Amino acid sequence: MSKKITIAIDGFSSTGKSTVAKQLAKALEYIYVDSGAMYRAVTLFAMQNGLISNDSFDKANLVKQLKDITISFEYNPVKGVAEVYLNGINVESDIRTLEVSNFVSHIAEISEVRKKLVEQQQQFGKNKGVVMDGRDIGTVVFPDAELKIFMTASAETRAQRRFEELKTKGDSANFSSVLKNIQKRDSIDTNRDDSPLAQAEDAILFDNSNLSVEQQFEALLQLAKEAILKIS
Ligand code: DC
Repeated sequence: MSKKITIAIDGFSSTGKSTVAKQLAKALEYIYVDSGAMYRAVTLFAMQNGLISNDSFDKANLVKQLKDITISFEYNPVKGVAEVYLNGINVESDIRTLEVSNFVSHIAEISEVRKKLVEQQQQFGKNKGVVMDGRDIGTVVFPDAELKIFMTASAETRAQRRFEELKTKGDSANFSSVLKNIQKRDSIDTNRDDSPLAQAEDAILFDNSNLSVEQQFEALLQLAKEAILKIS
């Protein structure tokens, strides 16, 4: 049997990382971990516990309450994907609202939050055979990953994709607010002090602006197979 590798997929918001990460995990029979969902779950916790309001955010109390936050993933056999749970409750759809998207990069800036989530992410990947997507997977979480991909596409292309996704779900967001949200998150993710979004030196830059979902999957599956052959 071939050896298992770790696949780290990083990149800007809405570049389609999770779509291809899920496809790769399924094809290779690896586990898939959506690390962004974990930052989103912490954001939802802060909202549900009154730590975020229109003009203030109680960071000190969130840090104090981190010990009360348990995030887990459970496989949903009907949908064929793992879903995220916050303290035992399925929050898969609650973490995808524009409200959470608008605040999550502020939560992801907090070092204490990052430390907690990175430790858990490393546990998920300790036996290899994992595909994880996020912003710091190839640089911080798995610096030794055998395959690192850095995904990119223009902000307009990404906003259009996100807009369509939200519309399908019945969310009434408009295109310009989605584009603004993406640009703002790009800026915060790239400029924060702790683990900013950056391409790892040994990551492969992958621009999917002009690729279909299928083309992108085939190209990345090929890279994964080559990486597996290299260590087998
Ligand atoms: O991938 P996403 O849009 O669901 O991520 C949500 C936010 O979490 C995004 O603004 C950046 C942050 N994030 C992060 O800082 N590090 C990760 N490994 C994953 C996500």
